[in-house]
Amino acid sequence: MAVSGMHISPEMQTAWTQYWKGGNLESLPEDQAAGRLGALEAAWKEFFSQLPDGARLLDLATGGGDVIRRAVTAGRNFQIAGVDIADLSAVSATLPGVELTGNTELSCLPLADASVDAVASQFGIEYADTAAATREAVRVLVPGGRGHFVLHHAVGAITESVAANLAADRAVFAGSNAFQLGRAVFELRQRPAPSAEIARADAEFRNAVGKLQSRVGTDRAFGTARNVVGFLTRLASAPHALSPAEALHRMNVVEEHNRARTLRKQAQLDAALDRKGVEKFSECLANAGGRLETLKELKYPMGRPMAWSLRFHK
Ligand SMILES: C[S@@+](CC[C@H](N)C(=O)[O-])C[C@H]1O[C@@H](n2cnc3c(N)ncnc32)[C@H](O)[C@@H]1O
Repeated sequence: MAVSGMHISPEMQTAWTQYWKGGNLESLPEDQAAGRLGALEAAWKEFFSQLPDGARLLDLATGGGDVIRRAVTAGRNFQIAGVDIADLSAVSATLPGVELTGNTELSCLPLADASVDAVASQFGIEYADTAAATREAVRVLVPGGRGHFVLHHAVGAITESVAANLAADRAVFAGSNAFQLGRAVFELRQRPAPSAEIARADAEFRNAVGKLQSRVGTDRAFGTARNVVGFLTRLASAPHALSPAEALHRMNVVEEHNRARTLRKQAQLDAALDRKGVEKFSECLANAGGRLETLKELKYPMGRPMAWSLRFHK
């Protein structure tokens, strides 16, 4: 849960913007494809069924618009808007008729008091300053208006796999200067430097990449690290295959992409709530004027926790 008064950093904002620009529209796409999201779908359906036709619905931290798509599918003519700290222009193009506002902190919503009938959030509001974001969520609700938040669960399967993924990345890349050595290879070629100097740099780069290869495990958690090491391996084993400028450009893109991914995953771990955390979250909501209706765990078909589901009204 985000600390009170904390605001998202510009790097984090860019990391999310890049993610949504990359066309990642669905939340939990693997679980969705495998049909494991029954509990989540049911929770949203039940929430939407409590709202009047044509209700004004605001989705907080909307991202790729997963909740909005579910609300549209409900076919109840809701007037839907979404806000997020990320730039959502790429997402907007996929959601005609929905008003999306990017670059917006949940702790400072650009909406009038009592201007929506319902607020929703899925894996979003817990990333923001909880006291301020819950205050804002309740402020914009009409009296009697309803809310449903689906929150990351600290001991859930999603959090476990993110933690394993981050640990695998660290095990492979910690202390490595492979990117730096790779850049040196292509900068020397670009100049061009004497061939002996280039050959020495090539050997150092190959050596550093070899070390990374030896650290990549077979576990699923190493998936991303394996891809990155594969990319570096191709560069190190055939440095002539690309122009130096192209190789440098691709290295920058991959490194930046990797860094943004790490930031997002770490934020996800920080946002996840254990039982105590979700109780504190509920307390903030109550202090803001939200009346808790239900707080329950959503589970995967095999019984493992997926998320918290919290319903309330003003
Ligand atoms: C895990 S994504 C969830 C997106 C979407 N609700 C879903 O279910 O797929 C978290 C989202 O929260 C947004 N976010 C994080 N901190 C925020 C803040 N302080 N204010 C507004 N949005 C924030 C991020 O930009 C990102 O789009």
